[in-house]
Amino acid sequence: MWSFSTFVPVVLVVASVASASSVVSMPLKRLTGTGSHLNGGRTRAAFLKSYASGDRLTIPSSNLEYVQYTTSVGVGTPPTYYNLVVDTGSAVTFVGTGKKYARTSSSVSIGQKINVTYGTGYFKGDEYNDTVTLAPQLVITQQSIGDALEYADFPDVDGIIGFGPVDLTRRSLPAHPDAMVPTVMDNAIDQNLLKNKILGVSFAPATSLNDTNGSLTYGGVDDALYTGEILYTPVTETYPAAGYWGVNVSGVMYGSHSVISQSTAGIVDTGTSLILIADDLFAVYMAAIPGAYIDDNKTGLIVIPASSVAGMQLLKFKFGEAGFGMDASSQLIPQDQNSEWGGETGVQYGVVGNLGSNSGEGLDFILGQKFMESFYAVFDADENRVGFG
Ligand SMILES: *[C@@H]1O[C@H](CO)[C@@H](O)[C@H](O)[C@H]1NC(C)=O
Ligand SMILES: *[C@@H]1O[C@H](CO)[C@@H](O)[C@H](O)[C@H]1NC(C)=O
Ligand SMILES: *[C@@H]1O[C@H](CO)[C@@H](O)[C@H](O)[C@H]1NC(C)=O
Ligand SMILES: *[C@@H]1O[C@H](CO)[C@@H](O)[C@H](O)[C@H]1NC(C)=O
Ligand SMILES: *[C@@H]1O[C@H](CO)[C@@H](O)[C@H](O)[C@H]1NC(C)=O
Ligand SMILES: *[C@@H]1O[C@H](CO)[C@@H](O)[C@H](O)[C@H]1NC(C)=O
Repeated sequence: MWSFSTFVPVVLVVASVASASSVVSMPLKRLTGTGSHLNGGRTRAAFLKSYASGDRLTIPSSNLEYVQYTTSVGVGTPPTYYNLVVDTGSAVTFVGTGKKYARTSSSVSIGQKINVTYGTGYFKGDEYNDTVTLAPQLVITQQSIGDALEYADFPDVDGIIGFGPVDLTRRSLPAHPDAMVPTVMDNAIDQNLLKNKILGVSFAPATSLNDTNGSLTYGGVDDALYTGEILYTPVTETYPAAGYWGVNVSGVMYGSHSVISQSTAGIVDTGTSLILIADDLFAVYMAAIPGAYIDDNKTGLIVIPASSVAGMQLLKFKFGEAGFGMDASSQLIPQDQNSEWGGETGVQYGVVGNLGSNSGEGLDFILGQKFMESFYAVFDADENRVGFG
């Protein structure tokens, strides 16, 4: 229900309807651009913290170009297809930053302005209700869609599809700052299109500039996309991480070095490119790699001397007793991608970066796309938990 006076519960009651499709899998496209993605990630980290803390919105100054996963989403009747960034760190869905919004007979103006500021970039425009086609068998009606008329920092993409908690839609409608706008997942459940409010995300390491090696599963997990079992961890109660898909790690080890030694909250965010760790904790990781340093003058990425590559250790994230280890190659940016990351030829950059602030703030790491290129991720709003496989 769309109502400015009634709050939509974060986890909607799931209707058991026989006709509901169990699982729908869609291919994902991965995009790369140029620019300083790490600085964008840090700006995003600072922004995500202040946003969920209830502070005022701050306009970021980053000029990030995205290294992101997108999925093709149809809007209108007949649908126009847009390449939208898959973002579990925000909840509004909008189009228009690349391909312009094509209004059709199903496009209904809500008569509201919408504006959203992200860690990198922002958009402002008008709010519509429209039919959204996630897949031929998954067509949502009366989904709110922002039409971006003014925006910054969305190179090569047409907008965002937001899979974050619905609370993150607050303050998107300036005339009704406390209103929450049902997300695509909320409506898919409400309209009995899906039985389970679960998103499965499979990101594969990219092999070319724009490949389609990832996939997104609406309504459940796709057993074909991972091996073994999914290990779940509850959404954290520690703010600001709890305002997102936040989890606690019980520890992080790099070889025998303890990078994070106690239970610590952070978030899982498909909209962040790298893996970011609070500065003081990141320093332990960096110090454990002989000669490693941060390329402060250009990319902001960690640089790993060629002589230290062979000796790199497993980087293991622990959730309770379960551990997820990234091997050496998963911690490195393939050198043939250096120019897309804003780097120089012949330098070995890494995918683990510093968050831009010290630990102890309730959002001390971000497991971004690079983490999900190693592990299948499940965002389960029914059970309020995140799973990895
Ligand atoms: C927009 O869609 C919601 C359902 O998502 C509906 O309750 C509301 O009445 C619609 N608004 C307009 C102006 O059609
Ligand atoms: C990526 O490839 C798809 C086709 O597979 C195309 O529609 C899209 O425009 C491409 N994006 C970029 C930024 O090149
Ligand atoms: C969005 O609207 C709010 C008013 O609700 C305003 O304070 C803010 O500056 C706007 N953001 C942008 C990016 O225009
Ligand atoms: C990834 O996509 C590229 C091009 O789209 C393809 O050539 C390659 O085989 C794919 N790799 C995997 C592991 O699927
Ligand atoms: C999660 O981590 C935070 C520190 O970031 C800590 O205060 C909290 O107690 C932890 N929660 C659990 C359940 O361990
Ligand atoms: C940083 O700048 C210095 C001086 O311009 C240069 O010598 C060095 O190679 C740069 N580092 C990287 C990683 O680009």
